[in-house]
Amino acid sequence: MTDAPVVQKHPIGSRVAKGHVKPHVGPDRKAYEEEHTQSVGERGDEWWAKRRLTPSFFLSSSLLQKANETLSWYRPFQTVRSGSFAQGNIAWFLEGELNASYNCVDRHASASPDKTAIVYEADEPSQGRNITYSELLLEVCKVANVLKSLGVKKGDTVSVYLPMTWHAVAAFLACARIGAIHSVVFAGFSAESLRDRINDCQSRVLITSDEGKRGGKTIATKAIVDQALKECPVVDKVLVLRRTGNEINFVDGRDLWWHEEAEKVSSYCVPETMNSEDPLFILYTSGSTGKPKGVVHTTGGYLLCAALTVKYVFDVHPGDKFACMADIGWITGHTYIIYGPLTLGTTTTVFESTPVYPSPARYWETVEKHGLTHFYSAPTAIRLLRQQGHHHLQSFTLSTLRVLGSVGEPINSEAWEWYNEHVGQNECSVVDTFWQTETGSIVLAPLPGAIETKPGAAQVPFFGQAPVLVEAATGELVEGPGEGVLCLSKPWPSIARTIWKDHARYLDTYMNPYPGYFYTGDSASRDEDGDIWIKGRIDDVINVSGHRLSTAEIESALILHKGVAEAAVIGIGDDMTGQAVHAFVIMKPEFSYSSSNETSLVKELIIQVRKVIGPFAAPKKVYIVGNLPKTRSGKIMRHIIRKIVAGESDQLGDLSTVAEPSAVDQIKQKVSESQ
Ligand code: WTA
Repeated sequence: MTDAPVVQKHPIGSRVAKGHVKPHVGPDRKAYEEEHTQSVGERGDEWWAKRRLTPSFFLSSSLLQKANETLSWYRPFQTVRSGSFAQGNIAWFLEGELNASYNCVDRHASASPDKTAIVYEADEPSQGRNITYSELLLEVCKVANVLKSLGVKKGDTVSVYLPMTWHAVAAFLACARIGAIHSVVFAGFSAESLRDRINDCQSRVLITSDEGKRGGKTIATKAIVDQALKECPVVDKVLVLRRTGNEINFVDGRDLWWHEEAEKVSSYCVPETMNSEDPLFILYTSGSTGKPKGVVHTTGGYLLCAALTVKYVFDVHPGDKFACMADIGWITGHTYIIYGPLTLGTTTTVFESTPVYPSPARYWETVEKHGLTHFYSAPTAIRLLRQQGHHHLQSFTLSTLRVLGSVGEPINSEAWEWYNEHVGQNECSVVDTFWQTETGSIVLAPLPGAIETKPGAAQVPFFGQAPVLVEAATGELVEGPGEGVLCLSKPWPSIARTIWKDHARYLDTYMNPYPGYFYTGDSASRDEDGDIWIKGRIDDVINVSGHRLSTAEIESALILHKGVAEAAVIGIGDDMTGQAVHAFVIMKPEFSYSSSNETSLVKELIIQVRKVIGPFAAPKKVYIVGNLPKTRSGKIMRHIIRKIVAGESDQLGDLSTVAEPSAVDQIKQKVSESQ
């Protein structure tokens, strides 16, 4: 029997709360556990609310904070929470009224108008600038008034397809200001993906830019939009931000320049009064079927969790400069570039470039230039920079950094240690944060002032979160050390409320697999200390460089190629990107190609996926095969293919259920030929 690997615990980062009185949670695990226990106890909901239901001396100070302290309400809420997972009708802070844009901008612009709201680090290092809270307020109001002038009303959807410019923040908040529901589409998505997302939420107005800049390259944003809009009859106005100023196609009567329209409207827009449960945004994400899901988040609960996780998971204090390097088109950008930091009045960063442009020192140059205190990135970027060598960090002052975050996929211990040693200089807290588009905010993470860290583990639940491990087959709870399906047992304020126009799918995906729990789709293990380690998805979702992709979506993209009869897509472990997409394709018998031409066919199929979904979903390998292993009822047995590619052909198990066993040999042969 082999012993379990010894995990080296890292002490609490010596720089946590440096320059401030003390960390928000600490000084040790016991302090965290006491507060966590309260937050999931019988009166746990009150942790989120500042409710003076009983004289204050009966309540610990933590119960007197949160919702009322963190958010400004036009009308106070009366009910902290209602609803249940089983019913799929969870609601928080009922009767409460507020506005997200007011919470993110106005109150800070009035208290400290000249404070930097956004550090905009442009693609070319010399072209960025800082945007103050008062400037942000002006821009948000202008765009909000432009949207109103285009007829956008409370409850309407607005699609946003923008690159990483600070104006994107103004676009999000302008929608929120007038009560419009934004649906931001990651600017790496193709015209077809953009089209489908616009059509699903039926937005009349789209906000975009002429072009984008990234890594020294120019991206033809508006040209992609024009392509998409050929099949979006509902869109009648397109607001175009001038980012590069290059000549672009403009459709008279439909396309309008952002800067020209902004000139025509007044400088102040009264924020719309929104109910806590009014939708704030839709964000499409991949699930186990081909059709992306429009995950819906509401206002009060989402905003509160976004702010409190920034505060506690990153131990953010006044004066800090927070930098999340994700794209605004993903949930990480929504919550940790925009809504979380700005609700707290913290300076946030919009980073337009890549980690390696103009050199692999770009991130560290940026940290030094702005004196960033927090840096939140993804394992895939950390692995890439580790590979480039730590000499790229050596000439930069990184001592302002206190907390380093990781998100999106499991972080391997080598990448974690490198991050800790070379970026954190063994003095920062490294927080591995687990969460999802649907959770809205961080679910598991070691809190910096309280928890000794373990490389590769997201470890402990945030306040109010009660994760459980469930045995997949029986639904029984796994107690103590062990492995199982990760579910969440207690509703939290930023849980997604529904899937846009498809509540049945919401219930089926998250609530029905294990009744009474929210199903994450990930498996996890719990160690002797009670710490949680995320293993990865157990459904048909694969994770490439932190991008969440569905195998079914990629298969559907391949099948749209005129020659493809059938496709099976799997995720295979990859040193750099975490997982990589491998596709197995059967061509139609009538589609003729010579095997000497296979390389160009493979290229064509890769282009097909880039075109239908976007470049980030492109398969790393495509195998043209004559047959696929299937059950007798015709279901493709992807787990068999996955094992063959992963070099585990000796562990295929019982093959008696394979309808045509020769298909297995064919796959084996094809895979060995290509190695
Ligand atoms: C994975 C991103 C391991 C997980 C915020 C989850 C992680 C999916 C971690 C959600 C982590 C996210 N360790 N795996 N720290 N964080 N994941 O919706 O599989 O884009 O289900 O949200 O990413 O991806 P999504």
